[in-house]
Amino acid sequence: MAKKTQATWGGRFEAAPAELMLRFSESVSYDRRLARFDIAGSKAHASMLASVGILKGSEARAIRQGLDRIGRKIDSGRFFWDTRLEDVHMNIEQALTRIVPAAAKLHTARSRNDQVATDMRLFFKDACSVLRERIKGAERAILGAASKYRAVLIPGYTHLQRAQPVSLAHHLLAWLEMLERDRERLASVADRANWCPLGSGAIAGTTLPINRERVALELGFVDPKGRARITQNSMDAVADRDLFVEFACACALAGVHFSRIAEDLILWCTAEFGFASMPDEFSTGSSLMPQKKNPDACELLRGKSARLQGNLQALLTLTKGLPLTYNRDLQEDKPPVFDSFDQVDLCAQVLAAVVSGLKVNAPRCAAAVADPALLATDLVDYLVARGVAFRKAHHAVGRVVALAEKRGVPLNRLPNSAVMRIHSGFGPDWARVFDLKRALPRRRGPGMPGPAQVDRQIARWKGQLAS
Ligand code: ARG
Repeated sequence: MAKKTQATWGGRFEAAPAELMLRFSESVSYDRRLARFDIAGSKAHASMLASVGILKGSEARAIRQGLDRIGRKIDSGRFFWDTRLEDVHMNIEQALTRIVPAAAKLHTARSRNDQVATDMRLFFKDACSVLRERIKGAERAILGAASKYRAVLIPGYTHLQRAQPVSLAHHLLAWLEMLERDRERLASVADRANWCPLGSGAIAGTTLPINRERVALELGFVDPKGRARITQNSMDAVADRDLFVEFACACALAGVHFSRIAEDLILWCTAEFGFASMPDEFSTGSSLMPQKKNPDACELLRGKSARLQGNLQALLTLTKGLPLTYNRDLQEDKPPVFDSFDQVDLCAQVLAAVVSGLKVNAPRCAAAVADPALLATDLVDYLVARGVAFRKAHHAVGRVVALAEKRGVPLNRLPNSAVMRIHSGFGPDWARVFDLKRALPRRRGPGMPGPAQVDRQIARWKGQLAS
């Protein structure tokens, strides 16, 4: 076995790592996607080393230029990633050393432990802002559908049983609330990522006179006033993986929201509901049954949420028993995070496309919402307004419902005499509550599905999602 395949740490070894060990322990096949963050971190580190006199100005400049060259090579796909060099950090450092001799000084006062922690914090800041934009795209599509179909009413459901009438827009705006919370969660993950760990070294910092604030400033780890934000404990800085868990959690919860939205859509597009139909571009057919149009995009949105939850679980399990500080187990922290990012990135785009292409079947919605039983609660409110105690009113309307069921007639078709016999609170105008045109506008309070409120909410969302 050839010695010295591991130029970065091979000094104390007699034999080079086994082929099998190299294959087992490499991470460059996936952590190469950190390259641009690794390069940014190394550039800031080099400038800082020069500012404190550890590198010459000319050396730092050569290193920075060399790193830019390598960055361009990576971007153009011409960079050779060598799995024998383990990870993204060593690949870039070795390639740099081949073109810039001073790069042999770059790793001064730094370890891959604080380096990878820095790379990942930069990744999280970027990833959160990308996903926030993607989710905003889905929100805009939903808002578009809400304004387009603002006049359509549908039954709202609890227990998947028809409950009360709502506007379709109100239902769609509920989705917006869910997704907006996901965006807020991602923003708070990005804020917690915004502390620079570089300078923590392997575990205990360094004896050399580094300037951590300078690095943090160059890398954009700053508070709203532009002051450097640096981590305050070198051991925690290299051991901590909270952000990984928080990011995966924000993604898993977004996945749950995508899944619940997808399930609503799947139901709406069944022959049984018939409220809407999926865009062809995001449906599939059957290889056997020629008539089929299957909602595969929505089913995959539902399915992906399982995977996103798995990623979160993997990270919690990975970290739970680890002694402080860095352990190589932690290299397994990246695949679940990258996968969560990739899947949410895709899911949000697919959701946007499905909702944009959704066709609502207004007559089917109108037929479903015409069921007068949906307004039984309004009849209770009618009695309450006439001075009947709520519990008594509820019971009386229950008896009206039972009578209608027994006679096999719609609730609003019972004769006045029969209804007025059930409770003296009923007047001859009792059946007027069954008019949707009256019922919906009465739900005018904040957060309610009445048309005035829904218009107000649509206007609010338009403002919020404009920029
Ligand atoms: N590839 C490694 C990881 O992601 C980098 C840190 C390696 N540190 C070490 N002490 N071997 O975990």
